Amino acid sequence: MFNVNSIREEFPILSKKFGKYPLVYFDNGATSQKPNFVIDRIDQYYKEENANIHRGVHTLSQVSTENYENARQTIASFLNAKEKHEIIFTKGTTDGINLVAHSFGALMSLGDEILISEMEHHSNIVPWQMLAEAKGLVLRYIPMTTSGELDLKNIDTLLNEKTKLVAITHISNSLGTINPIADLIELAHSKNAKVLIDGAQSLQHIQVDVQALDCDFLVFSGHKIFAPTGTGILYGKEDLLNKMPPYQGGGDMIKTVTMEKTTFNSLPHKFEAGTPNISGGIGLGAAIEWLSQLNLNEIEVYERSLLQYITAELSKIEGIRFFGTAEEKCSTVSFLIGEFHPYDIGTLLNQQGIAVRTGHHCTQPIMDFYKIPGTIRASLSFYNTKEEIDLFIQALNKAIKMLS
Ligand code: ALA
Repeated sequence: MFNVNSIREEFPILSKKFGKYPLVYFDNGATSQKPNFVIDRIDQYYKEENANIHRGVHTLSQVSTENYENARQTIASFLNAKEKHEIIFTKGTTDGINLVAHSFGALMSLGDEILISEMEHHSNIVPWQMLAEAKGLVLRYIPMTTSGELDLKNIDTLLNEKTKLVAITHISNSLGTINPIADLIELAHSKNAKVLIDGAQSLQHIQVDVQALDCDFLVFSGHKIFAPTGTGILYGKEDLLNKMPPYQGGGDMIKTVTMEKTTFNSLPHKFEAGTPNISGGIGLGAAIEWLSQLNLNEIEVYERSLLQYITAELSKIEGIRFFGTAEEKCSTVSFLIGEFHPYDIGTLLNQQGIAVRTGHHCTQPIMDFYKIPGTIRASLSFYNTKEEIDLFIQALNKAIKMLS
């Protein structure tokens, strides 16, 4: 049985207090906390293993290289990638999307189309807008319904023979909606379009098998999945990655360099210029190793019970408006109360030890859709509890009273 108390003991920060208030950390959509397993692994790296990788014959360099490459293998196995070299280390989701926009974008030509949706994070909008502008491409958007789901009624027009890429979020960071990515991938492939899945908000909630899904690219951030900041992964199918030109030039991504010409390294190094975030990559491997030991089905069930509880408790508050009421949701709730500004509520919650995110959550088109400036977002992880939800509701009621 899933035991939340023993999980919590593995996260030192969760026992932090602000005066008399215990920390209630409901900002997991922004970043997750880190378990001792990951913290200790990074500590060990710097105390015992630190050296540059892929560059030295000395023992430390060999040990670091082996550990870094083992982390890549751990991640490949977790995603069920066919090949380890289909796993590219990045700085995070944004970096992964920019890499694909640059390098897959180089294979697109005037008039080609890219399809995204109205519910994307800015990092899955702006790189495509920049690419479309630079290369004369057409950027189309799948619209949203008021419940915060993809409106697929015109999908056959939006996704057509000119579409070269569909880039879509698995789970909306603002609304928590889980999108039907398997159906979209199948549909896109029937039109010969490739698909990039933004997994920034999903891998910490749902197990993803890239071969079963048959996605062409998947990107995610380490820091949202219990690993350090500045780490991330781009998974790409080998044949596509081989066709794409490098993203950045520099050390490690080359095979030979003369003053006239450079030939490039093979995968994955072709896309990993310069000394990478070695401790971060090893930390990401550790986070995935730690996560893999847990029963992910039990976690899904537990998180669903948290979502039901927080939704039911919030529904009792007068004047609450929810944004994102999809059937399929992860444990994220976005809401407003009456005319209170989200920032004021967030500040008063913070004074009582509660961490939530307020604002547009880097999804201004969603806010424009609902004609609101922003929301209060509570994004829960499996280390959160019903007792914390009770504290959150109590603090929220107090904030409302203070503002009334
Ligand atoms: N993308 C992160 C969030 O949703 C930062 O908060």
